Amino acid sequence: MENINKITMNKDKKENIWDNYGEKDYMSLELLNYKILYFNKLFDNFDCDKNELVIEIGAGHGISSQVFSQIFSNYIVTEPNKYLFEKLTELKNSNKKYVNMMLYQTSLEELNLDNISINEKVNLVIFSYSFQYIEYNKCFNKLDEILKVNGFLLIMLPFKPFVLNEEFDDIKNKKWRKQINQSINNIIRNEQYELLMLEKEKNYIILLKKII
Ligand SMILES: C[S@@+](CC[C@H](N)C(=O)[O-])C[C@H]1O[C@@H](n2cnc3c(N)ncnc32)[C@H](O)[C@@H]1O
Repeated sequence: MENINKITMNKDKKENIWDNYGEKDYMSLELLNYKILYFNKLFDNFDCDKNELVIEIGAGHGISSQVFSQIFSNYIVTEPNKYLFEKLTELKNSNKKYVNMMLYQTSLEELNLDNISINEKVNLVIFSYSFQYIEYNKCFNKLDEILKVNGFLLIMLPFKPFVLNEEFDDIKNKKWRKQINQSINNIIRNEQYELLMLEKEKNYIILLKKII
């Protein structure tokens, strides 16, 4: 985790580095229901149409996909790691309530909506604890490519490494944190995006609207 360049430059390593994440437990039913309510309300507040196309980037084995697939009817779920993708497929097949998930094994950098037979831009892009691992420079063009004007961008980040807190000074994570900070700030300050919400209480929840 401390060397983001290695993660993004070495494809084999990138493929395997997330295997263990599949051991992380899914949410309890109580937490799942709470999150479904929370995000339903949030998207209602900003008039986000739940029937429009939504894409999740780096979904892992689907911890957050369980939430968003219950909110949005056209839900594309992407994940590059082979093992996590297999677990994601198992999740989809485990219950008919996940039938609306459209699964694609791809990284954000390699994502091409034409290749996955989606001929329209999406109305919402979701990063659930995955934004910090993508190649930042390519990310902005890619977002522009896949997200339509008036569409939304939801970025959730973990409490650690305190990405927006300047006082965080762990040397090991300093470079990585700086990159994430720059990347977030670039989006927040980008005139293409309007910042709708920035919640920093427990985890970071950033909701933006693409206005140009
Ligand atoms: C901390 S996990 C989060 C997984 C899931 N979103 C969740 O909330 O549980 C980070 C995820 O980002 C994915 N990831 C890493 N680099 C990526 C990239 N370049 N494009 C898309 N996803 C990536 C990993 O494969 C992993 O599944």
